[in-house]
Amino acid sequence: MRILLTGVAGFIGFHLGKALVAQGHEVLAIDSLNDYYNPQLKLDRLAALGEHKNLTFRKVDIADMDALTEAVDDFNPEAIVHLAAQAGVRYSLINPQAYADANVRGQINMLELARRCSNLGHFIYASSSSVYGDRKDGPFRETDRCDAPVSIYAATKKSGELISESYARLYGLNVSGLRFFTVYGAWGRPDMAYWIFANAIENDETVRLFNRGEMRRDFTHVSDVVEGISRMLASPVRKGHEVYNIGCSNPVQLRDFLSVLENTIGKKAQTELLPMQPGDVGDTYADPTKFVETFGYSPSKPIEEGLPEFVSWWRDYPNRSAI
Ligand SMILES: NC(=O)c1ccc[n+]([C@@H]2O[C@H](COP(=O)([O-])OP(=O)(O)OC[C@H]3O[C@@H](n4cnc5c(N)ncnc54)[C@H](O)[C@@H]3O)[C@@H](O)[C@H]2O)c1
Repeated sequence: MRILLTGVAGFIGFHLGKALVAQGHEVLAIDSLNDYYNPQLKLDRLAALGEHKNLTFRKVDIADMDALTEAVDDFNPEAIVHLAAQAGVRYSLINPQAYADANVRGQINMLELARRCSNLGHFIYASSSSVYGDRKDGPFRETDRCDAPVSIYAATKKSGELISESYARLYGLNVSGLRFFTVYGAWGRPDMAYWIFANAIENDETVRLFNRGEMRRDFTHVSDVVEGISRMLASPVRKGHEVYNIGCSNPVQLRDFLSVLENTIGKKAQTELLPMQPGDVGDTYADPTKFVETFGYSPSKPIEEGLPEFVSWWRDYPNRSAI
């Protein structure tokens, strides 16, 4: 299948790109290589993808419609997996414009592109569990109201869902949005807790536990996300726009998560308990039923297996201290 993949130099896009070429797909992969976090990690991911006759990389900003159109040119994808976005909850309070550019304008541009593709079967894009807002009454279902985002990031992700709904209705596109729940794994993101905590433990620095550690996250290993998307691509295309949770349905207390990390690294963390940060949510907790019933798959890798895999990669990553 000819697949246009965005965000290939990012954490999830890298893993998916690798899997798609291994599955024999022809991939046109794009990314702006922005500097939200150190772009060296993005370059290293691209290098780790390696030269592959079935994968072409183009550096392009999806917020620039002309550049996007030119980059995709006559590729004529049969599927689009759109993962490029300005991620990060806390940074969205500092630079909200970056989120409007990548997640709102970028989403519109990708859908504009999609409606002009004559052979397109499926448009799959990344949304986020953050659209559920700050709630304690999980598991969260796709039918729940999502109109109280507590961060600009969440608001732009929900906007992306609404924009996708209108494109599906207006132009008969088949669109699926994936609400990811705290994805982690090797080649992960240095702005996320697993990387920040691991660094702090290793360097005898203080681990800051927001909301006094009273938070739960439904951690999802990146291999489960890749398997989920691969199954979607292999499934018959469904009509219209649907959103799906991708999460384990097993929320873990931040303190328990820290214990697994301490045991893996073999060192106790020094901790500081702090209040909740603006933009953050207390709990994330997926009800995965809709995805399981539609695509026959549920993420299940526990952090006791997934975190040691991350730590082992992170320890061996030669540019770790520079990131
Ligand atoms: N990792 C998670 O826990 C998580 C959770 C929920 C949702 N998501 C979503 O999943 C997707 C992938 O996330 P990730 O964790 O791999 O993040 P990431 O930041 O590692 O990857 C995103 C990639 O998109 C690229 N990008 C950003 N703006 C762009 C633009 N305007 N044009 C082209 N490329 C651009 C970045 O350079 C980056 O390489 C994102 O849409 C994110 O919002 C991730």
